[in-house]
Amino acid sequence: MFTCFGSANLGLPLNPRDAIYYQNTPDFFGFTANPFGFGFRDLGLGTFLRSGPGSWASPNDTWTQFAPTSDGQMQTSSARNVAMVPSKCPTTEAPGPYFQKEFFHNGYIKSLKQLVHFYNTRDVAAFRFNVTSGHCPSGTVEKVNCWPEPEVPNNLDMTVGMLGLSDTEENQIVAFLQTLTDGFTTPYPDINQFTGACMTCNPATDPNCSPSKQGNNFLIPTPSPLPPCASAICGVAPLPGPKPIP
Ligand code: HEM
Repeated sequence: MFTCFGSANLGLPLNPRDAIYYQNTPDFFGFTANPFGFGFRDLGLGTFLRSGPGSWASPNDTWTQFAPTSDGQMQTSSARNVAMVPSKCPTTEAPGPYFQKEFFHNGYIKSLKQLVHFYNTRDVAAFRFNVTSGHCPSGTVEKVNCWPEPEVPNNLDMTVGMLGLSDTEENQIVAFLQTLTDGFTTPYPDINQFTGACMTCNPATDPNCSPSKQGNNFLIPTPSPLPPCASAICGVAPLPGPKPIP
């Protein structure tokens, strides 16, 4: 399955493109998905253990104490079939023709090359900036040589972040991930019936036309200043720590 079946905090930045941040008014059914707007933070396993907003009640009260050491941890999804694309668009990588996908729990990462580059360079000091997504300093390119602050700074997994891989080695891991497509389409018989258009870009004319820059021409800025984490999320005991959630 290519997962450890565990949970980890990879330190992904908050992705201001996620619809949840804008769902702060009642929908057609009178349901408000996220009353906190940009005060929402996804504490992942931590929210589950606290029985926090949007989460089912924790199945075992004796686990609640572990919330602060679980904040930001997300389930380790399977890498099996991660490169799967409609046959019409043979890759997730620019220039393509490629199929634009989103990776990790909040869709911040747009291609497998970007994903491997993130694992490889998240903690490279020169690439780390105290900014939110959309605010990387001029002269840097977000997701290439600028990584914004993690949404949840606690419990970061340190087995990844500075792997010292060369560009070629990153590409080789992408190629490896592409071998994990197993060919099974059941129970998805329509998998090859994608009728939309593949994405393409021209490296000769488009400076964003590389897998690592994919999606960057459409970056939208995180609100600045970012509203603080809502007390209904970050004010629930046992409180997150040791670092405050920005
Ligand atoms: C170079 C080594 C690694 C590669 C190539 C890799 C690759 C991947 C891939 C392809 C996914 C699925 C992404 C998706 O479907 O959206 C994934 C998810 C994930 N991996 Fe890794 N992984 C690596 C190392 C690790 C390590 C060492 C850990 C934990 C200590 C880890 C934890 C996770 C977690 C928690 C997720 C889900 C994250 C989220 O949804 O936010 N990975 N990884």
